[in-house]
Amino acid sequence: MQAIFSDIEKLRKLPKAELHLHIEGTFEPELIFELAAKNRVDLNYKSVEELRQAYQFSDLQSFLNIYYAGMSVLKDEYDFEKLAESYFERAAADGVVHAELFFDPQAHTGRGIKFDTVINGLHRACKNSATKYGLTSALILCFLRDLDSESAMATLEEALKHKEKFIAVGLDSAEVGNPPSKFEKVFARARTEGLLTVAHAGEEGPPPYVWEALDLLKVSRIDHGVRSLEDEKLTKRLKAEEIPLTVCPLSNVKLKVFKDLKEHNLKKMLDLGLKATINSDDPAYFGGYVLENYNQCRLALSLSDEDLIQLAKNSITASFLPENEKRKHLQAIENQFNLTT
Ligand code: HPA
Ligand code: ZN
Repeated sequence: MQAIFSDIEKLRKLPKAELHLHIEGTFEPELIFELAAKNRVDLNYKSVEELRQAYQFSDLQSFLNIYYAGMSVLKDEYDFEKLAESYFERAAADGVVHAELFFDPQAHTGRGIKFDTVINGLHRACKNSATKYGLTSALILCFLRDLDSESAMATLEEALKHKEKFIAVGLDSAEVGNPPSKFEKVFARARTEGLLTVAHAGEEGPPPYVWEALDLLKVSRIDHGVRSLEDEKLTKRLKAEEIPLTVCPLSNVKLKVFKDLKEHNLKKMLDLGLKATINSDDPAYFGGYVLENYNQCRLALSLSDEDLIQLAKNSITASFLPENEKRKHLQAIENQFNLTT
């Protein structure tokens, strides 16, 4: 029997949630140039093509340098709204029914942009995408882990004035040398305010960082977490506690976490019974949005229909949606793609 997902159009129709997406990482070169012109910012690149050609990375830090440079053209609420609006348009076309978006406020407040400007623009786009595409969404405030914990705490205090506009806090930027333990107090404060927590861990950093994220930051999900498999005890715990891992396959290849997509451990995670999900991380920089991640993994890792359906279901159950919404999406997957009939 021919596989259901042997063509990308079927995969597009598979309802999926995207849970690991940096909104600033969706900034396409065309829009960077458009907003640079609007805001009269000089770019170091002469053309869209030249900028795109600079997207060759050797590791996480080499990417972060370009990522922070790109976002320097974001100035007013309209810019942030436009950025997120452009993402939602692509996500809806990829079959995303729910998206949880990271944003990096310190990357903006650090260059003189008000926190309110950032969150109000993003929040407006989130509301509009529900009306326009029926695509629900939520915001997750990420702290830059290479900055000190005092800066993170000050950011959180300021953010709490807008508490109804985001659901969780996370941790991103340069991982090695900046373990989760550095932010234990900040995350404890966030939790007392009723916020959920997630953290990037085990992307470039070692398994002990994943342990810390679980034990000290009490995260509901691990972002990336691909290095967890180096530690058997940790792997067992992730499975036993059904901790979701928001895996970003094309990102991992671009940032040289894996040499080739064929060597990625996503299929191994599924075979071990871990709650892995597929996400795009910074799709404007890493060569593909979420559908492209699903499709390239399907081909490189020979994912079966069962694997792909499991990944989509995992993305729904691992989301922060209310239970009734999760059930609705899971039912839609069952109805459309029932393997037993
Ligand atoms: N890792 C850490 N920080 C980030 C990333 C990532 O993949 N993308 C944007 N900030
Ligand atoms: Zn990330």
